[in-house]
Amino acid sequence: MLNFDYHNQTRYVYGPGEHLNLGKHLKAFAPGRILLHYGGGSIVRTGLLDRVRKSLSDAGIDFVEMGGVKPNPSVSLVREGISLCRKEQVSLILAVGGGSVIDSAKGIAVGVPNSCDVWELYSHKGSVPEKHPLPVACVLTLPAAGSENSPNTVLSEEHSQRKLGFKHMGLRPVLSIVDPTLFLSLPQAQMAYGACDMLCHIFERYFTNTTHTALTDALAEATMRTIITQARILNHDLQNVEAWGQLALSGTIAHNDLLGLGREQSWACHALEHELSAVYDVPHGAGLAVIVPAYMEAVWSYNPGIFAQWATNVMGVTPQRDTAAVVHEGIARLRSWYRELGLPQTMQELTIPDTADFAAMAHAACKVYGGGAAIPTLPGVHPITAEEAAAIYNSAR
Ligand code: NZQ
Ligand code: ZN
Repeated sequence: MLNFDYHNQTRYVYGPGEHLNLGKHLKAFAPGRILLHYGGGSIVRTGLLDRVRKSLSDAGIDFVEMGGVKPNPSVSLVREGISLCRKEQVSLILAVGGGSVIDSAKGIAVGVPNSCDVWELYSHKGSVPEKHPLPVACVLTLPAAGSENSPNTVLSEEHSQRKLGFKHMGLRPVLSIVDPTLFLSLPQAQMAYGACDMLCHIFERYFTNTTHTALTDALAEATMRTIITQARILNHDLQNVEAWGQLALSGTIAHNDLLGLGREQSWACHALEHELSAVYDVPHGAGLAVIVPAYMEAVWSYNPGIFAQWATNVMGVTPQRDTAAVVHEGIARLRSWYRELGLPQTMQELTIPDTADFAAMAHAACKVYGGGAAIPTLPGVHPITAEEAAAIYNSAR
């Protein structure tokens, strides 16, 4: 196990009906005016926007509003939010939505107090802002990205077709309300994308060369099994509040870095997927379903032990001497779970055209995640070069 330094500031409130207590919970964190930030249609259709407004007003919280966040959220809307918050002297950003809305809120939160253009912070890996971000709070409407308890935000710049992340511990929300009744309006596809994303957040941490990780291995395996089981329940019964609750808590734990403590992490699948989302605007979870099995096939032999352990302890494959057979059966069972959930299996099913320039996308992914090395590679159980990354894309055609 490696050294680590873990700080998690989020007050996490879970339960059916808890969103109605938003104002009461938020009051302690919001002495001044706040920005209520949200997406497109669902928050209006379900009546949630009106309930949030009422809860804030009842608690005497002064707020201004900005909606319009789209999936794969854009830096241009974030810039508009920054201007609005400076003008209105906003002191906290409240996101009501899924990962895209929360990430957009985080972009605004770090942009308001800092004089540089906010995209600068996303463009340079590891950049540190001069000033601490404003606090962020959220009401989660879609369990998937884990942004409700992560220090990360991911934004896209349309004209350059770049999708980049930024991380700051001050961006872990100060308050997250996770009310599973808000998930009952989600379509099956969003449940499937979300479960796929959560599982991959664990893969990125679990498949490592770090040794002596018994506790985080076991926690990760239990969380992966829970995601697989609860997504199957929801696949047949989207109105199952308890299953939504289990899935949502798993999704939070999958990405709040508890399962990554003291482990070298990969993030290669995310690097490869973010290029697909940036260029073709595909849902993040759908892109991952195509990338993950191709990635596993490409790298498992560099650390067969951890992949065989996963196949056995998570996918239920019977242990046997032939490690390759165990790993391949594990990957086959993962593909079959993706299929059950209706997730795409190939670039074609993801509607990525045959003309896609995978070599360019592979170079871009390695450059972003390669940490400025002379020959940048994607980290993981095996460092992936741009050529290998292109081969992974191609094998998923
Ligand atoms: O805008 P509306 O109409 O609300 O529609 C949204 C959106 O179209 C809809 N939706 C959300 N809640 C709903 C609902 N529809 C019905 N009922 C509800 N209760 O769902 C659609 C997708 O929402 P989005 O927020 O885009 O999905 P998700 O939560 O999967 O977030 C994906 C984004 O998060 C980033 C991804 O790259 C992607 O941009 N990620 C963020 C991370 C982080 N900050 O730590 C880590 C992840 O790896 C990921 O990269
Ligand atoms: Zn993800």
